[in-house]
Amino acid sequence: MPTQENKQGSRPKFFITTPIYYVNARPHLGHTYTTVAADTLARWKRMRGYDVYFLTGTDEHGQKIERSAAKAGKTPQEFAAGVSSEFRALWDRMGLTYDDYIRTTEERHKRGVQHLFTVLQERGFIYKGTYTGQYCVWDELYVEGPPGTACPDCGRITETVSEENYFFKLSAFERKLLEYYEQHPDFIRPEARRNEVVAFVRGGLRDLSISRTSFNWGIPVPGDERHVIYVWMDALANYITALGYGSDDPTLLEKYWPADVQLIGKEISRFHCVYWPAFLMAADLPLPKSIVAHGWLLFEQSKMSKSRGNIVRAETVLDVLGADALRYFLLREIVFGQDGSFSFDALVQRYNSDLANGYGNLVSRTLTMIVKYFGGVVPEAKTANYRYKENAVLTDACEGIGSVAHFQEISISIGFDNLDFSHALESAWSLIGSVDGFITASAPWKISESSDPKDRQYLAEILYTAAESIRIITALAYPVIPDAAAKVWRQLGLGDITQADLKELQWGGLKPGTKLGQLGPVFPRAEKDAITRMQELEDKYPAQTATETAKQVPAIPVTEVAIPALVTKETVDTHTTHPAAVAPTPPAPEAKPHAPAPAVDATPTLAAAENPKIAIEDFAKVELRVAIVRVAERVPKADRLLRLEVDLGYEQRQIVAGIAEAYTPESLIGRKVVIVANLAPRKLRGLESNGMIVAASVGEKGTPVLAGFLEDVEIGARLK
Ligand code: MSP
Repeated sequence: MPTQENKQGSRPKFFITTPIYYVNARPHLGHTYTTVAADTLARWKRMRGYDVYFLTGTDEHGQKIERSAAKAGKTPQEFAAGVSSEFRALWDRMGLTYDDYIRTTEERHKRGVQHLFTVLQERGFIYKGTYTGQYCVWDELYVEGPPGTACPDCGRITETVSEENYFFKLSAFERKLLEYYEQHPDFIRPEARRNEVVAFVRGGLRDLSISRTSFNWGIPVPGDERHVIYVWMDALANYITALGYGSDDPTLLEKYWPADVQLIGKEISRFHCVYWPAFLMAADLPLPKSIVAHGWLLFEQSKMSKSRGNIVRAETVLDVLGADALRYFLLREIVFGQDGSFSFDALVQRYNSDLANGYGNLVSRTLTMIVKYFGGVVPEAKTANYRYKENAVLTDACEGIGSVAHFQEISISIGFDNLDFSHALESAWSLIGSVDGFITASAPWKISESSDPKDRQYLAEILYTAAESIRIITALAYPVIPDAAAKVWRQLGLGDITQADLKELQWGGLKPGTKLGQLGPVFPRAEKDAITRMQELEDKYPAQTATETAKQVPAIPVTEVAIPALVTKETVDTHTTHPAAVAPTPPAPEAKPHAPAPAVDATPTLAAAENPKIAIEDFAKVELRVAIVRVAERVPKADRLLRLEVDLGYEQRQIVAGIAEAYTPESLIGRKVVIVANLAPRKLRGLESNGMIVAASVGEKGTPVLAGFLEDVEIGARLK
């Protein structure tokens, strides 16, 4: 895909990467999400004058790919080439502006990975040993635990491997990594991921097996070709091999490394924030400036992934609503860094409200009036430099829009720079709302009926103000909706947006006298059948639709366990509208009134009437399960709330719990808790909470004390 040429040498550089995608599955919306976010940031930085290098690609080696190829009756080479070209074709269809697309089966990559291996070996960080233990082929992850242990990431049962391997001295980097995290607070973002990684490293690092002998679809260890290099070492190295690491030409490496932002999905933070910096330290190379992990795109409450069978293909949305609609939805709807849900309903609703009725309608009504009242030429306005004072109300209104535009520009820029796309877009769309309101209030169509020259000037003021606002909004929205922005830019008479200088967007940049281009719809309203059309398109791919979810989700481990004396405190996670989860045992003496009534006798009493007993079937409706806390962080401006990500073995979910006064986020990571798993989701402080943590309510203040077990209980186990 062609990208804008970097013409000057003196601009600041910006190197941004996406993870390289496994080729065992075709691209879906989850992959698209990461790549769109990277493309948006790349466009934003280019537009602000940076010399950007944007890298993406595919991860093609490893046992998982080898097995997928065998299943498809193809050689790994053929299979990988086919899926890799599907990824690339999708990115090209969407117009993504990557500068390089690396495939790990390319010669340049192989040479670079072998060079890295040799360097680490020469520097004394690699030795030979024997690994006997558990391995998850799906995640290509070594897992600690006895045979039969489930993979902590995907829940599949691991395989036992016993091999002579090369090991990387990861343990030697434990202290260095912790110091590095401490000294570079922005190295891992957001904070939740940072806490998680720090807790993992503090827990102790063991040396890492970095070669395999039981299969051969990989890059051979130099000088010992029976071994192939561990697929994660192979894959992570792409970020430097693409720049020429290990080749004779260091130009790109010298120019662009270290990366400025490496975007990843949260499930691969350990590889990127622990192994990757350790490899780089060992090779004496600088570390990336920032690794930013985003959350998951959920479909019907669980992570969109091929293994769950709940994926949606990007092509479906492109066919019906186009790439800009998809980009806008993903970046506006989901707070970057957190999980967010995708649904066709929400997509069409956002499309119609924000794009068709919001931006599209503002452009169309403003430019149509300029055509109608000024022959399609941008009128002269004096408020452009705030000097027009004859009509104080109008002047104030125009000036008001000018300053709103100024402040929103600052807010949007901060949003993009911080990868806070949803807030950047919220600010841009609030400016659209202000301009729309301004037009409606000043009613230019009425003023146009007057023949007074002063009114003519007022009309010019209003339409200039609206058109200039559209120019600024369009420039700022360009990284997210590039096709629509390019169209509007031409309609404004400004030519090709990719050639425009969008660094400075001061008010008044739209020159009076500019002849508008050809007008046309930007975001036509989505038809009523848009949702069904998308659903039908997805149904053509039955093996990948959500209906298969139940079949494909790994079996939930259910263990019979004795129920402890639980007292739930409704207010613990402020699920006040939900029934409390109760245990069929007497409450602790300090229990609050909402705890179940102690069993007394069969005679109905007032207390029993207030707290009627429930049948076992009622209790059975409450799905209590053991989960482990993987992520914990404070919720800004909410003293009592923590945002937790808990792992049930078969899925991860976000829960917002009111336990911040009793527990620090760090103390919770790795702790097993009991959750009510089948509560309807609800929003707290804008965050979706999927479940509720069970805790006793202790003392006068009702301090929460988390329920737990003396024995080590498997995650996912149900309490019944
Ligand atoms: N090949 C490795 C990455 C190696 S990088 C040196 C890998 N590949 S993957 O194809 O399984 O996933 C790559 C990335 O796709 C994830 O990290 C994430 O960025 C994105 N996503 C895949 N599914 C996703 C969702 N459902 N939601 C959001 N992002 C998702 O891991």
